[in-house]
Amino acid sequence: MAIRDVLTVPDPRLKQVSKPVDKVDDALRALMDDMLESMYAADGIGLAAIQIGEPVRVIVIDLAREDEEPNVKYFVNPVLSEPSEQLEPYEEGCLSVPTVYDEIERPDRVRVTYLDYNGKEVSEIAEGMYAVCIQHEMDHLEGVLFIDYLSRLKRNRAVQKVKKLEKEKERDDAA
Ligand code: NI
Repeated sequence: MAIRDVLTVPDPRLKQVSKPVDKVDDALRALMDDMLESMYAADGIGLAAIQIGEPVRVIVIDLAREDEEPNVKYFVNPVLSEPSEQLEPYEEGCLSVPTVYDEIERPDRVRVTYLDYNGKEVSEIAEGMYAVCIQHEMDHLEGVLFIDYLSRLKRNRAVQKVKKLEKEKERDDAA
């Protein structure tokens, strides 16, 4: 396993639409392992493959709190259906838009159908934080970020904030 760099805005690769996976094999599991390790290293709760530069339809999520056992879920070629009419606001963040948080409204319940780590098909209802997280990660597969739902002013401000942060990080790394 390897910790890989997480892409941040305005990296154009984050706007790419990810491609479906042909089969769940050892090479794909190696990618999923890297994704999980990279997500944990960055203190994230969800990660899409494109965030480490791989444009394939793969997501990892672990919503367990720090005092709980890990609860890792892997999603290959996930599809959402049956979204609830009821929308709920939730304050979202993203490893590709570090230090920026804002409230987004999404359906509070949705069905997710996917292949798991072993290639087995699973279909289940996601609610609450799980529903928020899977919808946020699914957006990444379409090249959509949560800041794309905000006003242009807020979005530009977010991108500038991240650019500045990255520049400071580069300077610190060089020092
Ligand atoms: Ni994200």
